[in-house]
Amino acid sequence: MTGVWAVLVAAGRGERFGADRPKAFAKLGGRPLLAEPLERLEASEWIEAVVVVAPPDWEEPVILLAEELGAGKVTACVTGGDRRADSVRRGLAEVPEDAAVVLVHDAARPLLPAEVVERVVAALGDGWDGAVPALPVPDTLKRAGTDGAVTETVERENLYAAQTPQAFVGSKLREAMADERANASDCAGVVEAAGGRVCVVEGDRRLVKVTTAADLELVELLLSGDR
Ligand code: CTP
Ligand code: MG
Repeated sequence: MTGVWAVLVAAGRGERFGADRPKAFAKLGGRPLLAEPLERLEASEWIEAVVVVAPPDWEEPVILLAEELGAGKVTACVTGGDRRADSVRRGLAEVPEDAAVVLVHDAARPLLPAEVVERVVAALGDGWDGAVPALPVPDTLKRAGTDGAVTETVERENLYAAQTPQAFVGSKLREAMADERANASDCAGVVEAAGGRVCVVEGDRRLVKVTTAADLELVELLLSGDR
């Protein structure tokens, strides 16, 4: 058995972000955004190897960036697919069958705190098939139609907003993702649907996802406070 392998998914187009390049190459602190999570995975004592899933035609810049950063744990760089789940599947194909644990992380969440990696991996030691960092939802949620009419009110009790990195028993993630139809927006959803036992662990506010340009500004601010 080998240890913990990370799959860093960076292959999205970043349509809501709306730049002239994939979101993973937007500038954060003067560097491509991808540099931040890559460096942090590289530095994590829990991570043995990293597979980066790159946007089509951006494989070369990803490899160059990893070299520049001295990210020696980067073992493979593969081209992503149309949907996030497809990209995860392609990354997973580069992870050895006997990897005990696979950690999947969004490059779009650049500010990865070391302790979150520890928390999700440690939860697997407690017997869970998967672990998700999550934050309690502070607001009551409303479901509404396109006309604005509220159709449902969801009390916030027991509700969490899921983040990444998500850690899984390698074999469980592989089995769940083997079904090509599995297309949840997060891997935990796929493992849950396959009957896996997934838990939430304490997430972190710094793990905000860069979706729009405004999110990037927030991450810039958090980054300057983080250093
Ligand atoms: N991702 C991926 N392959 C895809 C879609 C998404 O690897 N086909 C990755 C993104 O690069 C990102 C993470 O999954 O790190 C979360 O996706 P999201 O924030 O939705 O990013 P994008 O899909 O790039 O953005 P958008 O949906 O606005 O196009
Ligand atoms: Mg997307």
